[in-house]
Amino acid sequence: MSDKLREYMLHVPEDFAVRSIERTSLNGTDFIGRNAFHSPLEGFLLARCAYEAKDYIEIGTLFGYSACIAGLTCKGLVHVIDPLIGYYEEGEPDAQTNTIASVEILKENWTRVGLPLERLIIHQQYHPPWPDALKDARFDVAFIDGDHSYEGTLTDWMELKDRVNMYMIFHDTNYEDIQKVIKIAVDDPDWTFYDQVARMLVVRRYSHGGPVSVKDSFGLAWRNSHEPKTKVDHKGR
Ligand SMILES: C[S@@+](CC[C@H](N)C(=O)[O-])C[C@H]1O[C@@H](n2cnc3c(N)ncnc32)[C@H](O)[C@@H]1O
Repeated sequence: MSDKLREYMLHVPEDFAVRSIERTSLNGTDFIGRNAFHSPLEGFLLARCAYEAKDYIEIGTLFGYSACIAGLTCKGLVHVIDPLIGYYEEGEPDAQTNTIASVEILKENWTRVGLPLERLIIHQQYHPPWPDALKDARFDVAFIDGDHSYEGTLTDWMELKDRVNMYMIFHDTNYEDIQKVIKIAVDDPDWTFYDQVARMLVVRRYSHGGPVSVKDSFGLAWRNSHEPKTKVDHKGR
């Protein structure tokens, strides 16, 4: 691992993060389906956020790559919301692997990376609606990677923003619709830009504090459109 990458990882012990990537690597033979990330750094960034977390939730799971990384790094439960019936539609195989996403594959991948099933809570449904079982739930970190439309992503953000204590992670920032929701997120007085690599962008709750963004240590370009605001009114959550 290069010094720059080591620096980037900051507080995440190398073994946690590297293991999270290696064990779910497509280069290995043990992960069914595929990794939907666009750079290994997206995995590192997710691991970096989840490492501080107790409970984690994601909307959009597919074969479980992001869920496994969160499971390997966070301390608590990993909740996933996804119908797990195919690629966006029932029975639709993932075009890249010709594999149909399912609860069974997710559980198999989770087990193959060495995680106990007791820590994986599957909500097998589309969002919305918000699962009844999570009516009063809060989480430290959330990952939005499901519907990808403006309305769907906005609904995910609105439902999660008052339930999440630390970080909210968006994927596929190359979509204009997702950029529009990110703009709403960084303009929210309780939230601010935290970090971005490849097609993953993280916003942080102001009151969480935490380390400043790590992007500069990795020499990543600053995105003007996501300039952090100076601290404004926060509600002390
Ligand atoms: C890009 S994939 C997720 C990739 C996954 N995060 C990973 O790391 O491999 C998107 C997933 O979201 C699911 N999905 C689509 N619309 C959804 C919705 N409204 N609620 C929950 N999941 C949804 C799809 O079926 C698909 O499994």
